Amino acid sequence: MSQLTIYQAHNSKQALQQEQDVKVIAVLLAEQGVRFEQWQATTDISPEMSQEDIISAYQDDIERLKAQGGYQTVDVISLAKGNPNASELRQKFLFEHTHSEDEVRFFVKGQGLFCLHLHDKVYQVLCQQGDLISVPENTPHWFDMGSDPEFTAIRLFNNQEGWVAKSTGSEIAKQFPLLD
Ligand SMILES: [Fe+2]
Repeated sequence: MSQLTIYQAHNSKQALQQEQDVKVIAVLLAEQGVRFEQWQATTDISPEMSQEDIISAYQDDIERLKAQGGYQTVDVISLAKGNPNASELRQKFLFEHTHSEDEVRFFVKGQGLFCLHLHDKVYQVLCQQGDLISVPENTPHWFDMGSDPEFTAIRLFNNQEGWVAKSTGSEIAKQFPLLD
């Protein structure tokens, strides 16, 4: 189940608020300028589907978001359980960083934990199947895919080449709960 947990940035021990109602989650994130939506596929999603078929199953929402956010390219990434590089991949985004463009992810399958450092708060967003999140450009955040990651996600980019994680140098990510 999708979940939002809000903490004071200086107190990772006690959450201020926890929500599982996706409408409430969307409102609380929208107040912070963060887009959160739930999308429905127009066809059944099966494991053997191609990237093109997955994208076409969500075409209307993708086109709407491209128009609203000025995104140019769309792709699909997948990670299956038992990946030998899981630990290395997990560490790649498990420190506080920013990007010079929005980080837009739609979860076709599986899950991931987005942790957004918004002023004096940390918003931990557990995204699951059917959830779309857009982390605005230059927002400090980290991402946990878990110890044995499994997800299929659609990504939208302004500029795929420019999508680089820039460390903030902060150790804050180590203080907060992980996905598992
Ligand atoms: Fe990121």
